[in-house]
Amino acid sequence: MIQIADLKTLREQISAWKKAGETIAFVPTMGNLHAGHISLVEEAHQHGTKVIVSIFVNPLQFGASEDLNKYPRTLEADAQALEAKSVDLLFTPTPDIIYPKGLEAQTSVHVPALSNIHCGKSRPGHFEGVATVVTKLFNLVQPDVACFGEKDFQQLQVIRTLTEDLCLPIRIVGVPTMREDSGLAMSSRNGYLSQQEKKQATSLYRALISMKAAIMEGEKNFEVLCEQAWKTLIDAGFERDYLTICDATSLADANHETTEFVILAAAKLGTTRLIDNIAFSR
Ligand code: PAF
Repeated sequence: MIQIADLKTLREQISAWKKAGETIAFVPTMGNLHAGHISLVEEAHQHGTKVIVSIFVNPLQFGASEDLNKYPRTLEADAQALEAKSVDLLFTPTPDIIYPKGLEAQTSVHVPALSNIHCGKSRPGHFEGVATVVTKLFNLVQPDVACFGEKDFQQLQVIRTLTEDLCLPIRIVGVPTMREDSGLAMSSRNGYLSQQEKKQATSLYRALISMKAAIMEGEKNFEVLCEQAWKTLIDAGFERDYLTICDATSLADANHETTEFVILAAAKLGTTRLIDNIAFSR
């Protein structure tokens, strides 16, 4: 596996591969890799002859009060795990390589319909940060295909939308969420949870499963359904952020005509904010 941090060497390598007719599948990450990331790498191997992974903890997508400084950085272990999965190139730029003029001066990418709802409401500026870095990484890596986890469902929709709106010739592949045996969605932030909180956290996915079952059985009062779910979540120790039943493409509120659903949830356990979702058709 080649490891590259600078743009010139990256561009030379990509251009050599393109000339040789290789196809590139890309997995952007912020590192601290777990089985969910590894499933993205495995999926990427299905779509390209060369697999590139980036590890970059993107300061532009963290709010002032968020966990940028304490975000886990485990580069050595991550590189070993990627090497074992036959990744061809690991791109590990630093913030001054990606943002040479500083964060304030960076041109940004904004996806208006999706950036200020749900997670975007709780984390102002977050999706501009994601959309901007992903666009930059796409322009650097020039992948044919890029793989993202469905765990970050809204992020995936933001990326699909920017790719379509900016006419980027990249196919976006969504990869199903990997879960612990308990049902807890795998996330780098699970490392912040105590053993007790890990047990409590399993209520989140259980609540989503019961909501889906109720909708499949014909429940139409979505507001009541959300309030009932909050009751069980609050009893389990969660603090409210949002819980919403949406159309799976627009992420607007679902209505009686909706057939493709996603239930999106974010809630805090202690100091850790967890997100999860369940998508289904009716
Ligand atoms: O999902 C993530 O790890 C990040 O948001 C991403 C897509 C790598 C952009 O920094």
